Amino acid sequence: MIGAVFLIFGATGDLAKRKLFPAIYSMYREGKLGENFAVVGLARRPRSNDEFRSDVREAIVEFARHDAAENGEWNKFAEHFQYMSLDIHNVEGFRQLNGLVNELDRKFDTNGNRLFYLALAPELFGDVSFNLREGGLLQTTGWHRLVIEKPFGYDLPTAQKLNGQLRQVFEESDIYRIDHYLGKEMVQNIGVFRFANSFIEPLWNNKHIANIQITLSETVGVEERGGYYDHAGALRDMGQNHMLQMIAMMAMEPPSRMHPEDIRDEKVKVLRSLRAFESDEAVKEDVVRGQYVQGEVNGKMLPAYRDEDKVNPDSHTETYFMARVFVDNFRWAGVPFYIRTGKRLPSKTTEVVVEFKNIPDGVYLAEKQKLEPNLLVFRVHPEEGIYFKMNAKDQGASGGITPIALDFSHSSEVGFNTPEAYERLLYDAARGDSTYFTRWDEVAHAWEYVDRIAQAWRNAEEDPEFYAAGSWGPERANEILAKNGFKWWPIF
Ligand code: BG6
Repeated sequence: MIGAVFLIFGATGDLAKRKLFPAIYSMYREGKLGENFAVVGLARRPRSNDEFRSDVREAIVEFARHDAAENGEWNKFAEHFQYMSLDIHNVEGFRQLNGLVNELDRKFDTNGNRLFYLALAPELFGDVSFNLREGGLLQTTGWHRLVIEKPFGYDLPTAQKLNGQLRQVFEESDIYRIDHYLGKEMVQNIGVFRFANSFIEPLWNNKHIANIQITLSETVGVEERGGYYDHAGALRDMGQNHMLQMIAMMAMEPPSRMHPEDIRDEKVKVLRSLRAFESDEAVKEDVVRGQYVQGEVNGKMLPAYRDEDKVNPDSHTETYFMARVFVDNFRWAGVPFYIRTGKRLPSKTTEVVVEFKNIPDGVYLAEKQKLEPNLLVFRVHPEEGIYFKMNAKDQGASGGITPIALDFSHSSEVGFNTPEAYERLLYDAARGDSTYFTRWDEVAHAWEYVDRIAQAWRNAEEDPEFYAAGSWGPERANEILAKNGFKWWPIF
């Protein structure tokens, strides 16, 4: 059972409300937390414990997988929550915080274990870490873990600087960098499915796989995050982290042991093998940088990105990013990985399609029929499951061949009840399992790859390629696949 004090910095923010409190509640209800824990909510604004507990309850009612408990049981859970108003630049406040946490440690018998969750802007990570040390919060005999959210820097130099600050206070093994895609059920299942099935591994290479397509599409625009997003763009917001992590999960070699460091060692080898773009011209050929303009969706005209709140009206920021990526190693030489992500696309979908090479031409020529290739699809969202597309005999006497589907989707009801990504990740961090967190070398290699693309875009000083809101992005994304004789498979 976990015994720890969870210190949530940014406790009045959106992430705490939508993800963290509901995750803690689910862990509690499912018996994973036991009673030896406390949660300290920290933010600048003043709040009494009662007010804070009622905020937590509201968040749980609205966002948790489990119904909020009735009074008696609720009060027992809520007793574990405390609030403290804190100015994170003031070390004196951290000393007081340390007093409070020591008290909670004794009261709930948490063995001096502390998990610091920074749901804050990354500019503050360094200061908070120093003040945790200066304020005495790391002077207990238990473990001290730091959980941080992306973005981890803006490019490699800023990420290095940030990492340098954190490393002055925490060991790498105590830093848990969240990439919430790695907490998703089906993303974790990629590894299990690949390595636990004997028929997959012999096919999992460039002899049998023609290409891999990864789609992370969203229907939303930038909503109220224009300020952050206009600075970041799709390449940094989704590409550097979630998309490259998904490539790593698909392409990694089987680890020698299912141990966090062995798994992360294999992932980092993939990131190191990404073929770097050699010139701006090469980036232009293989990467699309799109931005949405006005478009009609369900009879409603949606605004252009440049007209969104807190967005520069001449912005060059991409809301869509597509690339042809190569993993230059023995297994994957020559296999394109096509990745795309964007806002205001026609559906909210996360999926990976593996297209297998076709059987030799001419075998079924008598049918005058072009066979469709076999596909293996990992559906991450909205449904969770695995789908195979194969060829089989057409029913009846015609003797034709027709595609059939083997579909292992969880029913939507089951899907609804699978733990949220944040729930898994928070639980893993509290147990000290870092498998699904990104290690510094992964982050650094991912930045190196992405920085080269960003640099080419900066040099070009061109407008992005525009696409209508509600469309699948710039046409060039199709042309890049067509060059190799491929097409984007429709969403499954
Ligand atoms: C976040 C991005 O990391 O992922 C957001 O910052 C994006 O821009 C979100 O909307 C998508 O996550 P999910 O889990 O809804 O696919």
